Amino acid sequence: MTKHVLDMTAGSRMMWFDKNNSLATFVDKRVQHEELRSGHVIDVQPDVVADWTLGMPFEDESYHLVLFDPPHLIHAGDNSWLAKKYGKLDKDNWPEIIKLGFHEGMRVLKPHGTLVFKWNDSQIPLPELLKQIPYEPLFGQKRQKTHWLVFMKEVDE
Ligand SMILES: C[S@@+](CC[C@H](N)C(=O)[O-])C[C@H]1O[C@@H](n2cnc3c(N)ncnc32)[C@H](O)[C@@H]1O
Repeated sequence: MTKHVLDMTAGSRMMWFDKNNSLATFVDKRVQHEELRSGHVIDVQPDVVADWTLGMPFEDESYHLVLFDPPHLIHAGDNSWLAKKYGKLDKDNWPEIIKLGFHEGMRVLKPHGTLVFKWNDSQIPLPELLKQIPYEPLFGQKRQKTHWLVFMKEVDE
């Protein structure tokens, strides 16, 4: 079946109603199954293991919709459940890492395709993040510390 949706940071697929939705390709840079003493379960089983900083193994302009939900923590113990479940960004390099993620997400999007970005601002405020990327969201919504932003792939016409 043709895949139209790319979840480039699938993790445990918590946000999906159907965790095996056949429209989607689920990507993460790791494979991991762990049941933590805290009761949290980490179950990361991507269809494709790929690291967006190294380039994802997909053709340009192949997806209608890209979901980008990167780690948002720069300060967290490597063994904390938050870091294990959601990953962690490098505190010095995070702007470059996030920028590469947007570039890679936009590369694989079809013209005028949609990129949905999720961000928790507990450690890095949204304006600081937006300063690092050459894309502007069309609109978004915030609930508590979590932002949902919608971008469109713009093309010269
Ligand atoms: C916030 S979690 C995603 C949670 C997921 N959306 C869910 O619904 O459960 C971020 C995920 O991005 C992955 N990740 C971090 N850096 C990555 C990279 N450079 N390339 C691909 N995946 C990465 C982490 O392994 C982690 O599983």
